[in-house]
Amino acid sequence: MRYGRFDDARREYVIEQPATPTPWVNYLGTEDYFGIISNTAGGYSFYRDARLRRLTRYRYNNAPFDLGGRYMYLRDGSNGEFWSPTWQPTQTDLEAYECRHGLSYTVISSRHQGISAEALYFVPLGTSLEVWRLRVRNGRPVPAQLSVFSSVEFCLWDAQDDATNFQRNFNIAEVEVEGSVIYHKTEYRERRNHFAYFACSMPLAGFDTQREAFLGPYRGWDRPTVVERGESANSIAHGWAPHGSHHVRLALAPGESAEVIFVLGYAENSKDDKFDPAGSQTINKRAVRPVIEHWLKPASVEEGLQGLREYWDRMLGKLAVSTPDADTDRMVNIWNAYQCMVTFNLSRSASFYESGIGRGMGFRDSSQDLLGFVHMVPERARERMVDIASTQLPSGGAYHQYQPLTKRGNDEIGSGFNDDPLWLVLAVTAYVKETGDYSVLHEQVPYDNVAGSEAPFYDHLRRSVNYTLERLGPHGLPLIGRADWNDCLNLNCFSDTPGESFQVTENRSGSSAESVFIAGLFALVAGEMAALVESEGGSSWAAPGEAERYREAATSMRAAVAEHGWDGRWFRRAYDFFGEPVGSSANDEGQIFVEPQGMCVMGGAGADGRARQALDSVRAKLATPHGIVLNQPSYTRYQLELGEISSYPPGYKENGSVFCHTNPWVMIAETVVDDGDAAFDYYKRINPSAREAISEVHRAEPYVYAQTIAGPDGATFGEAKNSWLTGAAAWNFVAISQWILGIRPDHAGLQVDPVLPAAWDGFDAVRVFRGATYRIKVCKVAGGQKSRVGYLVVDGKRVDGNLVPLAPEGATVIVEAFSTPVGPA
Ligand code: BGC
Ligand code: NOJ
Repeated sequence: MRYGRFDDARREYVIEQPATPTPWVNYLGTEDYFGIISNTAGGYSFYRDARLRRLTRYRYNNAPFDLGGRYMYLRDGSNGEFWSPTWQPTQTDLEAYECRHGLSYTVISSRHQGISAEALYFVPLGTSLEVWRLRVRNGRPVPAQLSVFSSVEFCLWDAQDDATNFQRNFNIAEVEVEGSVIYHKTEYRERRNHFAYFACSMPLAGFDTQREAFLGPYRGWDRPTVVERGESANSIAHGWAPHGSHHVRLALAPGESAEVIFVLGYAENSKDDKFDPAGSQTINKRAVRPVIEHWLKPASVEEGLQGLREYWDRMLGKLAVSTPDADTDRMVNIWNAYQCMVTFNLSRSASFYESGIGRGMGFRDSSQDLLGFVHMVPERARERMVDIASTQLPSGGAYHQYQPLTKRGNDEIGSGFNDDPLWLVLAVTAYVKETGDYSVLHEQVPYDNVAGSEAPFYDHLRRSVNYTLERLGPHGLPLIGRADWNDCLNLNCFSDTPGESFQVTENRSGSSAESVFIAGLFALVAGEMAALVESEGGSSWAAPGEAERYREAATSMRAAVAEHGWDGRWFRRAYDFFGEPVGSSANDEGQIFVEPQGMCVMGGAGADGRARQALDSVRAKLATPHGIVLNQPSYTRYQLELGEISSYPPGYKENGSVFCHTNPWVMIAETVVDDGDAAFDYYKRINPSAREAISEVHRAEPYVYAQTIAGPDGATFGEAKNSWLTGAAAWNFVAISQWILGIRPDHAGLQVDPVLPAAWDGFDAVRVFRGATYRIKVCKVAGGQKSRVGYLVVDGKRVDGNLVPLAPEGATVIVEAFSTPVGPA
């Protein structure tokens, strides 16, 4: 069952009924000011930091799930009836409803008793504000006397404190109202030099700034007293809960329309110029007034929207594909790329599943996210990499998280997750291959942000690699530390205290738990290091013989995997604290794990045929119609020596769900062994668009990846959870675009190395790479099960192999890639 449809031409998802199984959300903002908005206008906004500069309040885990947001009410003066044109919060039975989630904007339209309304929400580029444009049309044969009420709940900035510290917060709220603008200035009198405002383009019939006055005692958002009465209370907040509501009257003749613009924004003044007149307690509004005035004009709103469209044209113009499969095209060209940009901006901070107050940026998460956006915003990717590397510890290890505002590593989740530093290498090599900017390797980057500790960026990569080599266990495999990619495989934790964090609890000392997964990752990373050193300019930063050293390290790691990481039919997952295998047929549960099957093959292990065998085992034991599950059988009881993984009920999260982040590793591994059918089949199983028709099962948004889909051992097999902020976005993008479609940046040029399903004849793509535009046509020379590109014709000249040589900036290059059968047909 569907709840909407894709409108690819407009790059929108159109939701056709308000009561989706879960809130189906979108993001507003591209730079500093962000908001989450649901299909019924729920959600909240913040400036830069979802916790410390929260503009509007949101109550998590609410009932209904999605309550509180950017609400408006319409009231019919003839009979006093009122409703929300975005359905929530009055939940009126609307004659028509439609929500269009577009790229950084959302439009919700509806009709009730002949009155049509359209609410557009977006954040113009270069601003720290959001625009709401409400259009109302009287479709009745008679005149309509209408009232519009807006409504936002102001947060007291620190969202954590806001939700807990009432003895103070109910006493500090302050506002100013000037003309049609409500200013929220709590704590501005003391140390803050920032405030929020909520402006309206029309003269007001009234306003409210005190929540209680607006709602009335014992009332909720579904029937505020003020709206019911049709008259604002003109309340001024002194403490309690500051709120913003405008009241505008509209008299519309039959067929007549009106437009009301609201602007909700954030502004700062310099510390010594906060008040006007100086010495007063009144906000200095000299700088903000013209901004407000500008964005309240209809023409500015149109221009702002156009600017946003052009921004996304530029972003998405870097890669566009046209394949025989509509789900692939729509995800690669629009939604997956968009989701990658959202993970770039938000990391794991603010979604309907991440409260925005809990987590910093993850070292490994941010490094992997970069793989999905580096081609769209290379300069910002460079800055991000430097930020991440600046938090690296001198040992080469990493804090697991850092704070976006301070850019400092934090000890909240601690360190010693031994996979962390290796992801940085993948990020940096991806960046360099994309841009050819080798200068970044010379950039002076500190350790742990300590002044004086700066070393060339390349040194950070070297220490990342050495960090693994210096921490090998009894089988010659990398020691696992806290947990490798899988945060919940806590082999050294032994936690038996309720509520204790599995990630932070002191590890039992003397561990020699080892990870086969990190071994695979290491082999991949060491290969990338060798290629980097051998690339243009490598000699200027690497030591003589360094490339060989990395290749040898990769080779011996693969040997250790072959000797101790192989279980007979698949790769083992790890060795536990006691040296017992994890992910082995010798175990009762958790006999096979997905992560090492994908990653070891990506790292070149199993070239002797074991790779194929491991992937066959994945197919036999882990693949389900809803994707590849993380482990089988799921753990049915808590196991002290394994930790959090066994804390989840079978089929959920890291215990036997389809953890969407890992599936692309298997897709990539299948391309390594030339199986385009298998790779693409797995791709389609979790492609959200391809799952749209089973939305009643999937339940999360059909336009973005979710972190997890319940596995067959769970009661809700196929149900997705934790949508939007997940490493699944970047890795699925990499798997489909770089490995299945095979358009892959390399040091010396652009590789065109697709591994396609047998049924495809080819596909077309446009890729902007290092300033040149490559128009690529892939065709299969003959049918057949397996084929790889044998030669290219580049601007009419034959080139053997699959590497398109670099073209000068500004050039347009016509590439034909001919795919010829490999292996037995
Ligand atoms: C979640 C993981 C997450 C970890 C650290 C666990 O509860 O299942 O996905 O990485 O917490 O925050
Ligand atoms: C989510 C975390 O953000 C990520 O770092 C981790 O790899 C996965 N969960 C798997 O545990």
